[in-house]
Amino acid sequence: MPAKSFRDRDVISVKDLTKADIQKILQVAQQLKKKPRPELLKNKVMASLFFEPSTRTRLSFETAMERLGGRVVGFAEAGVSSSSKGESLYDAMKIVGQYVDVIAMRHPVEGSARRAAESTDKPVLNGGDGANQHPTQTLLDLFSIYETQKKLNGLEVAMVGDLKYGRTVHSLASALTHFGARLHFVAPEMLQMPSYILEELKAKKIKYSLHEEIDEVINKVDILYMTRIQKERFTDPLDYERAKDVYVLTKDHLAKVKKNLRVMHPLPRVNEIATEVDATPHAYYFEQAENGLYARQALLALVLGKIK
Ligand code: CP
Repeated sequence: MPAKSFRDRDVISVKDLTKADIQKILQVAQQLKKKPRPELLKNKVMASLFFEPSTRTRLSFETAMERLGGRVVGFAEAGVSSSSKGESLYDAMKIVGQYVDVIAMRHPVEGSARRAAESTDKPVLNGGDGANQHPTQTLLDLFSIYETQKKLNGLEVAMVGDLKYGRTVHSLASALTHFGARLHFVAPEMLQMPSYILEELKAKKIKYSLHEEIDEVINKVDILYMTRIQKERFTDPLDYERAKDVYVLTKDHLAKVKKNLRVMHPLPRVNEIATEVDATPHAYYFEQAENGLYARQALLALVLGKIK
């Protein structure tokens, strides 16, 4: 089945994207990485509305737009918007949609991006809603996996750390169901992958296993996807103290790994990957972050109808 037209589409969850859609976005991202198109989005305006902190997602969305010749308006913290006066997200997005051509947003509340999309006909691109979804991160993750493994099908992928609150792993696990991956989830019991994701994997007959130690899986996987323990989502600070630093990847862990293993991380990292890993051939998290630029350029060009 070919990809549906992207024009004016919202991307709120990876479930909004078919396998063909994902392949199309990755193909366009590859083209734009190879051959920049500095005039493609001339006269288009993107609103960049970040109600929650971000470095990579916000700056790569904004740079993506500007490098394609478009312009950016917006804010990087909720306190400077009228949400601080009590304005509803619905009202705010309805108004912003009258000013711009596309909206990239991040918000701490799960479901907020979907709510925003209901208020405007302009495409809304979810840059993360609470612990729910981070679909554009998944696009750059898949792009990076393809770059390093030369395929997406049939890979062994381990996800490590805070799988309960980590929206990047929720989106990535869902997306990998299209590609017959075998998944290994490494987390303390209290931070394991939510049951609704495991149910989705079962329904799609995706093989997965649950672990508490990195050593149980590291020598057999192609991708080791480390994540940060999401301090901001814990209700009990003592739980965070117990969970933080539970996984710290060091060079010793890499002694017997597959040659093609790549270590990925959506970043920011705190202590999950020792800096000594950065210089190994397995580290790929900085290149991964760069790829956010191309994945987001592709998505912007597609939803604005400038690439078909
Ligand atoms: N990966 C990611 O979402 O990073 P930021 O929080 O810096 O946007």
